[in-house]
Amino acid sequence: MEKEFILLARDIIRSEDFQKTKNQRHHVRGTVYGHSLKVAYLCYRHHKLFHMKMDARELVTGALLHDFYLYDRQRKDEKHRFHWLRHPRTALENAKSRYPLTDAQQDMIRRHMFPVTPVPPKTKAGWLVCFYDKVAAVDDRFG
Ligand SMILES: [Fe+2]
Ligand SMILES: [Fe+2]
Repeated sequence: MEKEFILLARDIIRSEDFQKTKNQRHHVRGTVYGHSLKVAYLCYRHHKLFHMKMDARELVTGALLHDFYLYDRQRKDEKHRFHWLRHPRTALENAKSRYPLTDAQQDMIRRHMFPVTPVPPKTKAGWLVCFYDKVAAVDDRFG
């Protein structure tokens, strides 16, 4: 990964809570940590390729935090039922309590499960995370 991307992502990656995502399994194999980095990197590449006007750090930060739900969903727990539907909200609450988020970043986290959750993103960044989340999920399984 490019140095520029690392610089944009570094503060979040190094944070104690984000480091916990290394221990959270995701998509059969892999971790939330690896998956989140992949989604953020794909968004970053898209940003560069298409010369997006949006602030790159804002985009990378929102993408890194899209699955910041901070629990191990393999563990059977009543709170984790309906993970597919509920985890964006949990991730958003966790992210908001730790970082000042822009509207676009909140949209990226809240709506990334569309169409599993019924309301589509309302920002371009929200659509990007929604799209690259699916790309990364396929890569997590078969890549
Ligand atoms: Fe997710
Ligand atoms: Fe995801």
